Amino acid sequence: MDLLEFQARDLFERFGVPVLPGRVATTVDEALEGYEGLGGGTVVVKAQVRVGGRGKAGGVKLAKSASEVAEVAGQILGMDIKGHTVETVMLSPAAEIADEYYFSILLDRAANGYLAMCSLEGGVEIEQLAEERPEALAKVQIDPAVGIDEATATEILRQAGFEEKDHAKIGLVLRKLWHAFIESDATLVEVNPLVRTGSGYILALDGKVTLDDNAEFRHSDWARYHETAGNVDLEKQARELDLNYVKLDGSVGIIGNGAGLVMSTLDVVAAAGEDLPGQPKPANFLDIGGGASAQVMANGLRIIMSDPQVKSVFVNVFGGITACNEVAHGIVTALEMLGDEAQLPIVVRLDGNSVEVGKAILAEADHPLITVKSTMDEAARTAAQLASKGN
Ligand SMILES: Nc1ncnc2c1ncn2[C@@H]1O[C@H](COP(=O)(O)OP(=O)(O)OP(=O)(O)O)[C@@H](O)[C@H]1O
Ligand SMILES: [Mg+2]
Repeated sequence: MDLLEFQARDLFERFGVPVLPGRVATTVDEALEGYEGLGGGTVVVKAQVRVGGRGKAGGVKLAKSASEVAEVAGQILGMDIKGHTVETVMLSPAAEIADEYYFSILLDRAANGYLAMCSLEGGVEIEQLAEERPEALAKVQIDPAVGIDEATATEILRQAGFEEKDHAKIGLVLRKLWHAFIESDATLVEVNPLVRTGSGYILALDGKVTLDDNAEFRHSDWARYHETAGNVDLEKQARELDLNYVKLDGSVGIIGNGAGLVMSTLDVVAAAGEDLPGQPKPANFLDIGGGASAQVMANGLRIIMSDPQVKSVFVNVFGGITACNEVAHGIVTALEMLGDEAQLPIVVRLDGNSVEVGKAILAEADHPLITVKSTMDEAARTAAQLASKGN
């Protein structure tokens, strides 16, 4: 699960990482209270959304007085940033920035370890830097048994091109970020920018943290994150229904049986959407597994259709032990169970065991929301087109 910036800020603070004070607000009045709490002066008002590039989208703004805070908070609250509505802003004192750096730690599955990345050039789009000037981005493998100790921190900073006189001071912050990462069971901690202020302080000015959902059982305090998390809420509901669901960012809901089939469905839908207006993409991963009963199908459809970003649904099933006729029956019954809750067009592609009987059941039901396609490509294209039109 991804934390919002203010939650990352709080987490960093608990581990002694230097951060600026932050005040969270969901209304203009709260923003004004927060401004007072910070003691006035010049502040930044920052949109709290789980998507990068807020600054460019107009979601990070300076304000120098109470009236400017009211104006800027009013603009940012409710703003749409790449399909995410801003419900919360964070106010922080404006820092006087001398340098902006980049630092991150992530889980590196391929290397069975962790990877630290660091650059003297922060504040920029890191994917772009990695592509255009890879030499400016240091990448250091972290041995999980050692972590980022003093020697490793020095090595990271040396490779990134920091001057030796900075190694101790910034190295200490990297080690604190490592502790925040490992103790929190995170899979990503990214600070962009990590800044040096005019007076020489090192500060984590923007934080991104992804926590490993599999570790939730040992962090009772994570419950509070769910309250603020639109996406995570759907994932939590899905988990309670025993569904293997991961929320993604697109508009085509996906249901399939078998993780491999669902993964390839995501790829085919993304490819089908590439040339269409709005470039519709998969909205989720959902594997309903082998024994897809009507109840499981109804649960899956309900979760997917309660995602406001979803405009169409693609059900892609390969009949095996659970034959296509049972799946077809499951879809029809699920739609009966959902009644008016089901409003979105559903494209179905069935193949495998008893496919003809399955198709006959769907034809017989002649449900207004269902379109049946014979191949995965055709179905993906139709679902993407429907999502494109629905936007
Ligand atoms: N407290 C602050 N004081 C002064 N400048 C700030 C402050 N916070 C952010 N900035 C400036 O705004 C820029 C963008 O801020 P930030 O990194 O938080 O958002 P972003 O990079 O646009 O968002 P994201 O990281 O989600 O893409 C920073 O690189 C920094 O130059
Ligand atoms: Mg940033």
